Amino acid sequence: MKESCLSGEIVSRVNKLKRLLEVNIKRKQFGKSNLVIRNLAFNIEKNKFTTIIGPNGCGKSTLLKAIIGLDQEYDGLIKLNGKEINSPAKECSIVFQEPRLMPWMSVNENISFGLEKNDKTIVYDLLELLELENFSDNFPHQLSGGMAQKVALARTLVNLPNLLLLDEPFGSLDAITRHKLQRKLLEIIEKENSTALLVTHDLDEAVYLSDEILVMSQRPARIIKKYAINLPKPRDRADKRFSDMVAKIYFDLEKDSILE
Ligand SMILES: Nc1ncnc2c1ncn2[C@@H]1O[C@H](COP(=O)(O)OP(=O)(O)OP(=O)(O)O)[C@@H](O)[C@H]1O
Ligand SMILES: [Mg+2]
Repeated sequence: MKESCLSGEIVSRVNKLKRLLEVNIKRKQFGKSNLVIRNLAFNIEKNKFTTIIGPNGCGKSTLLKAIIGLDQEYDGLIKLNGKEINSPAKECSIVFQEPRLMPWMSVNENISFGLEKNDKTIVYDLLELLELENFSDNFPHQLSGGMAQKVALARTLVNLPNLLLLDEPFGSLDAITRHKLQRKLLEIIEKENSTALLVTHDLDEAVYLSDEILVMSQRPARIIKKYAINLPKPRDRADKRFSDMVAKIYFDLEKDSILE
């Protein structure tokens, strides 16, 4: 009896050590009446890729802003590496839903702006990887929406953080570019031992990238479903198990009217 209690305690301690992010938001409200989040809780383990899906306006971007420490006006607790987040955390960066580039800086300058090392090799690698080499001296107003989003992604990847938050980063990209960047993102994250939390509306993207998918409800939002995606990586879209998983999630969401 004693022994099993002890091993239970050890398992719970090990689980705690593996946790990078612990989110527990009791209430998040805008103004007097717009209750956006209520009793939303989940954890993310180190080196896992987690994706959040949910209907428009349910509070996904609001949640990411709270996690990164940009918004602290909520009732609840968010911990990164066991410590409460109460200011923008250095170990954590975000690719916003809109590029938010600095208009007076070129592509190269935007990407290099927060570079911590003196070595700019990573900037040139990313410019090449994202096929932006010929636009490195262009300014944001000279870019298409998809190109600007690629620059925003590169800017975050130059100093890959412990926790990378991605708010629909590939939404404005064509399908081929999107697939290419998904592959590259996984490679970079795995190589650097980073952990990612993505928001997307694209179920194919969610299944391709994730170890776990969390589903948010309509407002006031909470987590209403979790899917563990155990397919081998790198994932093969031609594998029937892949398309079955996408279809299953779509079917569940439609059945429960989650995306309406
Ligand atoms: N700064 C703000 N001030 C007031 N209300 C806000 C603010 N930011 C978000 N909201 C409200 O919070 C709710 C959730 O918005 P949020 O942007 O988090 O949704 P979302 O799930 O990211 O939607 P989408 O899928 O369209 O990106 C909406 O009702 C929105 O109007
Ligand atoms: Mg959003």
